[in-house]
Amino acid sequence: MRSGVLMMAQRHLLSLLLLEWALIGSYSDSLEFEEQSTMHSTTLCNGPWTTGWPGRDGRDGRDGAKGEKGDPGEGLRGLQGDPGRLGPPGNPGPQGPPGIKGMKGEPGESHSSVTDEQLISDLQTRLLKLTAALELYGIVIQVGEKFFATSGLASDFLTINMTCHEIGGTIATPRNEEENAAMLKLVEKHNTYAFLGLKEGKTPGEFYYLDGSPVNYTNWYAGMPDGQGSENCVEMYTDGTWNDKYCSKSRLTICEF
Ligand SMILES: *[C@@H]1O[C@H](CO)[C@@H](O)[C@H](O)[C@H]1NC(C)=O
Ligand SMILES: *[C@@H]1O[C@H](CO)[C@@H](O)[C@H](O)[C@H]1NC(C)=O
Repeated sequence: MRSGVLMMAQRHLLSLLLLEWALIGSYSDSLEFEEQSTMHSTTLCNGPWTTGWPGRDGRDGRDGAKGEKGDPGEGLRGLQGDPGRLGPPGNPGPQGPPGIKGMKGEPGESHSSVTDEQLISDLQTRLLKLTAALELYGIVIQVGEKFFATSGLASDFLTINMTCHEIGGTIATPRNEEENAAMLKLVEKHNTYAFLGLKEGKTPGEFYYLDGSPVNYTNWYAGMPDGQGSENCVEMYTDGTWNDKYCSKSRLTICEF
């Protein structure tokens, strides 16, 4: 290791010496030539002897030192040429480092359909029992695909609407006779009026669902609605008929799911 470094240093030193030698050598060559020519002229002019016949022409002197590089000429610059053709594709780069390990995937689905069917059957049984219990206490009632449920508490329309949304439902809105009869069971059970999911439109007496669509089922009490634009909400009486009412009134909370 050490001797290798030494050898390299020696080689460098040798190259340096050779370069220096070459430079000094050419310089001293030209010096020598100048000295010679000076000597010649001195000898010719100041010599003590009389002038004889001119001697023969001397031999050609040595070539002079190479002159300095001249300034570049000022020719007109040509127009830039078209870009060259696309070169051949380069060699592929080295392979990158491996990526970060991904997250653990979700467990695969069980292929044992017997277990799934058993699980669904168990859940159905439990749900039926729970619904029966909730219906018995007048909390929930099922009608077709729909559930009506009550907290048993009374609130103004805006609070009921908000509460129903918070628990993932909407305020109770019976869409046909069957649904109206089912909702009535909860109203009867609590023996109090309940608000419905309807609101009066710009024209007094015209009521709409909360999504703005026109009603396709109503069960107004005789002579209702009669608020003439001031009673913008709808309540269900304990006989299942409807009446327009002030939204600020407190009525039973019934939501649908
Ligand atoms: C009912 O509540 C929802 C959610 O808070 C709200 O977006 C909607 O405007 C409310 N509807 C009415 C008629 O107040
Ligand atoms: C009104 O429309 C709803 C939704 O399309 C539907 O469930 C309901 O049965 C309709 N009511 C009547 C009385 O046709």
